[in-house]
Amino acid sequence: RSISLDYTHSFIEDYELENIKEYINIAHNMLHNEKGPGSEYTGWVNYPKEFDIDEYERVKLASEKIRKNSEVFIVIGIGGSYLGARACIEALNHNFYNMLTSEKRNGPEIYFVGNNVSSSYILELLELIDGKDISINTISKSGTTTEPAIAFRIFKEYIEEKYGKEEAKNRIYITTDSKKGALKELASKEGYETFTVPDDIGGRYSILTSVGLLPIAVSGLNIDEIMNGAKDGMEEYGVLDLDKNYSYQYAAIRNVLYRKGKEIEMLTSYEPSLFYLQEWWKQLFGESEGKDLKGIYPSSASFTTDLHSLGQLIQDGRRNIFETVINIEEPKVDMILKEDKENLDGLNFLSGKTIDFVNKKAFEGTLMAHTSGGVPNIILNIEKMNEYNFGKLIYFFEKSCAISGYLLGVNPFNQPGVEEYKKNMFRLLGKPGY
Ligand code: PA5
Repeated sequence: RSISLDYTHSFIEDYELENIKEYINIAHNMLHNEKGPGSEYTGWVNYPKEFDIDEYERVKLASEKIRKNSEVFIVIGIGGSYLGARACIEALNHNFYNMLTSEKRNGPEIYFVGNNVSSSYILELLELIDGKDISINTISKSGTTTEPAIAFRIFKEYIEEKYGKEEAKNRIYITTDSKKGALKELASKEGYETFTVPDDIGGRYSILTSVGLLPIAVSGLNIDEIMNGAKDGMEEYGVLDLDKNYSYQYAAIRNVLYRKGKEIEMLTSYEPSLFYLQEWWKQLFGESEGKDLKGIYPSSASFTTDLHSLGQLIQDGRRNIFETVINIEEPKVDMILKEDKENLDGLNFLSGKTIDFVNKKAFEGTLMAHTSGGVPNIILNIEKMNEYNFGKLIYFFEKSCAISGYLLGVNPFNQPGVEEYKKNMFRLLGKPGY
């Protein structure tokens, strides 16, 4: 299997997993029979096989048009309305995608805005893209979130001034609820091409819908392969057998560790391109589980960089952390270290070895160190980071998150805490009706 889980370093005995099997079965049935809390938001479970093919084709057509007529593509959204697309684009494309020449990049530069309210971020982005042909995609399920709404107002005006109102319609794409919200109304009035966030899929579970797929396709990635991976993930992680289902094993192990006082999970990786995948994962698990005074605190670290900072705390600090390591078995590209005649740096002992070989030794050495320090490690082995495995990995995490939430006794599909801050912000800003 192209994704596998190794929990031999998690300090968990088989009988502990055996003891939790029955609860996994209950959680599985709650999810699949739509009997658990938040069941109205479980549309993502069968989505890889049941998605709207007409909309999917429109996503492909729009992405081709954007790739042809735009040098820059601006994605406006926050939380679940941007993290998935960014995670995928950064994990699978060139590490320096936006900085490549247009021939090498073979697609527009892609920037994300509306995920903060920093005036300098917005203004400096406008400065950066000045003089280039652009298209924008505003994504908001509710259609009312302040951060993307402000950014959209600014970029809509910019694009209308640059091209005129008629041509702007060819360059503005909206992804939102099928019926409600200010953004839906605006899109209908202005005649923009619109994509839908399905009613039964919440923001953080929406990466495989148009929310994630349009920006991903604009970057030139193969969305068919992503959906194939997700579809196979749906099969593989739908099996009600803890011994065979890695996604359920991950949920079970997290739950056992949490009960032993491991309240912080650190998702680590040795590939900096996975930074936004880690951010997406943090949102998925943090927003799904952190409620009713419960929840594992999801954090992340980028190794080996953070081994020189957080590594100390992991090794020797309070014993309340466990790590989940994403191990990419085969890197995208690799190079062999050459022999140096003078060997002034004393590195000739590595001549003939690849850089990834060194990276893997860093991983092995860290695993030995952290487990000897009493930190449980779960290892998620991924053969190669490609579109297929990315789609499968997304489904792996979504499924384990839902099961994990039900094991914890919370509704993994609402976010009352996030809603509260949004409402307070509306009130403090003087929005009518708040
Ligand atoms: O998971 C969620 O529902 C949230 O994090 C949302 O994705 C985020 O708040 C953005 O909301 P919206 O898409 O409605 O603008």
